[in-house]
This record gives sequence, structure tokens and C-alpha cells, in this order.
Amino acid sequence: MSLRISVIGTGYLGATHAACMAELGFEVLGLDVDQAKIDSLSRGELPFHEPGLPELLLKHIASGRLRFTTSYEEVGAWADVHFIGVGTPQKAGDNAADLTYVDAATLSLARNITKDALIVGKSTVPVGTARRLQQLVIKNKNDGVDVGFAWNPEFLREGFAVLDTLTPDRLVVGVENAEAEAVLREVYATALAANTPFISTDFETAELVKVAANAFLATKISFINAFSEVTEAVGGDIGTLADAIGHDTRIGRRFLNAGVGFGGGCLPKDIRALQARVSELGLERTMRFLSEVDEINLRRRDRVVFLAEDMLGELAGKKIAVLGVAFKPDSDDVRDSPALDVAARLFNAGADVNVYDPQANANAAQRFPRLNYVGSIANAAHDADLVILLTEWAEFKSLSPTDLDGMVRGKRFIDGRNVLAMGVWQDAGWDITALGHKH
Ligand code: UGA
Repeated sequence: MSLRISVIGTGYLGATHAACMAELGFEVLGLDVDQAKIDSLSRGELPFHEPGLPELLLKHIASGRLRFTTSYEEVGAWADVHFIGVGTPQKAGDNAADLTYVDAATLSLARNITKDALIVGKSTVPVGTARRLQQLVIKNKNDGVDVGFAWNPEFLREGFAVLDTLTPDRLVVGVENAEAEAVLREVYATALAANTPFISTDFETAELVKVAANAFLATKISFINAFSEVTEAVGGDIGTLADAIGHDTRIGRRFLNAGVGFGGGCLPKDIRALQARVSELGLERTMRFLSEVDEINLRRRDRVVFLAEDMLGELAGKKIAVLGVAFKPDSDDVRDSPALDVAARLFNAGADVNVYDPQANANAAQRFPRLNYVGSIANAAHDADLVILLTEWAEFKSLSPTDLDGMVRGKRFIDGRNVLAMGVWQDAGWDITALGHKH
């Protein structure tokens, strides 16, 4: 009989994992302590934007393979494998990860599992957490029940969550025995049949692989953005520079897009939590460079505000169109979004800010209600003294000067993501600049 799978936590990671496990043919029970979330998922409604996921959710609610519950008793009596995908946010006023949810989920599972099972952690955690949680399970599990423990970090990207889960680049599992590895090989049999690299290792390495990957990606982005500061000073083309070094296969072109920098629910918090964790280990100097990575990243936002002031003289009373507030395209996520931060700063400096994002207006309005959220590029650009592109949605990347003909008050443009052909805009009479370019 095929394995029964539970997924604890139905946020971004959990909801995606649950729907994808159902797509792979397993029976799946998703659990969340938030009744409202469970109700909406059970109706087939996804509380966030992710291409392809609503279709999978509806398909497998209909097929009967995917159900949702708030009951640990129910999952504990039913599933063979329990994935934990609850959040590990940044602690308020502290850089460390808040492990409250992951601890609570593990404890509730341990107490409620009444048949032999494997618990598999997926959340992003500070190294050492898996071993501590394993002990929590051993101490709190029911007598006579065999409960194994494993760690299996997740590398999915927002906007590609379904694809990344169904066809991952690699699978990493931290296991302590052959039984646990065999169960995970069965769960991931489809990917393994497609020759996906399967890295079986210890708990610590599995935990570290995840944070190392995100720290590397963040560093790569800040590396090119540091060079942006140089090309802004002396001239030069940051895109060409990235292309040229990217041809070296040891470097690679991906994640070398200069712009307003990285945001979202993962990269910023993960590099801070990693520094906090290694400091706890007495290795304060080891990850100090990540403070620089963070600072370079945040300085990109200052640069956009500086350019806006430079182009407009002063911001008070000026009308600015902001295109994009999501932290990246194909997402409605505004957590730690550079774009929303810049929009808010322009508003706080006295500008009248019109914001248009194809998906993230509602989430942004919850965080920063005082901006003027509108439903199209045209509405945002109406009478604007300056247009700023901050998230590279497809509809912004294909924008041409004629699209804005007769709409704006001043033909000024800041391309915060380096995606427009500046020459075309200059030829049409625009004062346009981009991050990484001298102005
Ligand atoms: C990131 C990782 O890419 C995933 O592998 C990982 O699983 C995930 O975090 C996680 O830990 O859950 P995600 O946050 O969805 O995924 O977004 P990315 O595609 O990594 O983009 C992060 C930020 O970097 C965005 O704000 C994006 O605009 C920015 N970015 C990306 C750049 O500024 N330049 C680039 O060249 C690439």
C-alpha cells in the first residue's frame, strides 16, 4: 500500500508540498492550527498567488487524495510520513529564527502519533535544531510506537513552487538509519527515476545545505550590486559586466541581475539567522561578510530614493508612479520587499505615490495602506512626474515609451531592475536611468 503523507503547516511550503505529494499519487492530509486557512484550502481556495498551484489543489480535492484538518490526533493515527513545513520567521527585535512553531508542531506530532511513522523536518532552521527535535520526539512519543526522524530541506522558489517540488534540482536528506532513507526514497521515487541527485547525509549537513544555498544566492546578488555602485560612479554597463563574467561557467550568469536587491520571506531572514547561529557557536567572525551582503542590499533602496530626489529636485508634492511592489515577479508576496520599502520611503518624503502591481496590491495595502493603489500601468502613470519600475513583471519588461504617451507630466524613468532598453526611451525623449548606471 502506498504511503500516507501528512504535511504540518499549510503556508507557502506546506500547501505546495501537500498538493504536489497528491499529484505524485499519495494520499495526503494537510494540517494547520489556523481553522480559517483549513476551511479555505478545503474549498480549494489558495490564500496566496502561485502559478499552477490552484489547479493542483482543486484537482486533488476532487480526486479525494488531498484533505485538510486541524486535528493532530487525526494525522497521528493516519499518516506514515509527517512532513513539518511550518514557518521559522525572524524573531522580533532579534536576527535569530523563531522556532516556536516548529517546536510546537514536533511536540504535538510526537504526542499524537499512534502508529509507526517517520517525522521529516522541512522548515529552514538553525543548525542543531534537527538533533534537538529528535530528542523531543524520543522523550514525548507514545510507548510502543516507532517514530523515526529525518531532515529534508526544501529549495523551492516562489513563482516556481510546483515545478521545483515536482522536479527538484536535487534532494537532500539528513537521516540516521537505512529505514528512514528508504522511506524518503519511496516518497521521492518519481524524481529519483528521473535521475535527480539524491544526497543522503547527517542532520547537520542537511540543515546547513539549505542556509548555505540561500547565503550563496544572497551573496551573488550583493556581489553584482556592489559592482553597481562602482559603475554608477565611473560609468560602464552592469548588465554587460554580468553577462561577461557569467560566461565563465565557474561563475554562471544566473542570480547576477543587478537592481534594487533581494527581499522576500527567505533570503534576508536566512542570512541574518545564519549569522546569529554561528555567533552562538562562538564563530562571530565566520559569517561577518553576510552583514556586508545585507548592507549592500539595503543600500540599493537608498540609491533609488536618491535618484528620485536627484531627478525631481525635491519629492514633496511630486507624483510618482511605482510599478511593482512584490518582492519579485509572479508572486504576491511583499515580505521584506525592496519595492514596497522604496514606495513607502518616497511617500514618507512627501511624494504622492501611485502603486500598481499585477498581484501584490492587496498584500501591500495591508502593510502600507497610505499609498494610492491602482489597477493598471495607465492609472499609475497618470500625471506622474516620475515612473519607477521596481519589480520585473512581464508586463513591465515589455513596456515601451509609446505605452505611456500623453499620460505622464514629466518623462522621467528609473529602471530599478535593469530590464528596459534605455536607448529606446532616450530616443523618445525620456530622462531614464537604471541602477548600476551613471546618472
Ligand atoms: C529563495 C531561494 O531561491 C530558494 O531556493 C529557496 O528555497 C527559498 O528562497 C526559500 O528559502 O524558501 P525565493 O525567496 O522564492 O527563493 O526568491 P528568489 O528567486 O531566490 O529571489 C529572491 C530575491 O532576490 C528577489 O527579491 C529577487 O528579486 C532577488 N534577485 C534574484 C535579484 O535581485 N537578482 C537576481 O539576480 C536574482
